[in-house]
Formats: sequence, C-alpha cells, structure tokens
Amino acid sequence: MSAHMIHRRQCFMFLGAAALLLSRTGSARAVGKMTMHKSATCGCCSKWAARMREAGFEVEEAIEADMAAIKTKFGVPAAMQSCHTAQIEGYIVEGHVPADALHRLLAERPRVTGVAAPGMPGGSPGMEAGEEEVYSLYLFDAASSREFGKWRGSKPA
Ligand code: CU
Ligand code: CU
Repeated sequence: MSAHMIHRRQCFMFLGAAALLLSRTGSARAVGKMTMHKSATCGCCSKWAARMREAGFEVEEAIEADMAAIKTKFGVPAAMQSCHTAQIEGYIVEGHVPADALHRLLAERPRVTGVAAPGMPGGSPGMEAGEEEVYSLYLFDAASSREFGKWRGSKPA
C-alpha cells in the first residue's frame, strides 16, 4: 500500500469522526435546556427530571415555596395542573410530560402557552411506580386546551 493511500484512509477516518462529533453536538443543541420549578417535598418531580436528562435535556431544578403562585405566574389553568412546572424555549411544561412529546412540541412550535399532563398519570415518566394507564396530553393557553395525543408510559398509546 502506498503512503498516499494510507493517508487517504486516515483522512476518511478523520472525516467520519468529525461527522459523528458534529451530529452529536447538533442533537445536544436541539434537545435543549429547561428549568423545572418544584416544591421541596415532592419526589416525583425530580424523578421526571431524571427521565428528561436520560433523554438528553439539560434540567435545572428550582425549589419553590409556593407552587400555586408559579402556576398563576406562568398561566397554567387549574384543569391542566400537576406537580412541577418547567420552562423550555418559551413553552411551559406542566407535569409528567414524556420527552417524545417535548420533541414534537419543539419541532411543531404551536402557538400555545405550553403542554400539560394534568394530574399524575400512572406509568408516565417519573410516575413509573404507579399502575400504567393511558392518559391525554394537552396543549393549552389561558382560555383553551386541545388534546396532544394519547400516551402510555413515555410513548404514544
Ligand atoms: Cu408528580
Ligand atoms: Cu412531583
């Protein structure tokens, strides 16, 4: 094998590694960063944050003395409420919303306040201890809400 061919082969290997690196940093940027507000005493919120980190999101946790005030401040209607309230790229994420739903939200960018998993659906991310149920996610704003698919666990049902 000539020195030229060896050089070419090394070049291709380098290009391959560079492409891999680029695709990794690219996806990390797309996945995004969020701040999750929670009360000090609730454990399922941090479990949800752990699931989001596993899916590649960066999650900062903010302990709040008054979660009701946070929900009012961020415009989460009573019917949409759950335990934790997160912010990501201009959207509010209420409760145990799966990472795949966040990917869909950030890809589609609907004109809404945010997405919610009202209550505490059993089997949803961070609620794995509960009995698995089919639950609805909702896109919401102050005056209305519409279903954002039926889900089971962390996937569409
Ligand atoms: Cu919860
Ligand atoms: Cu919680």
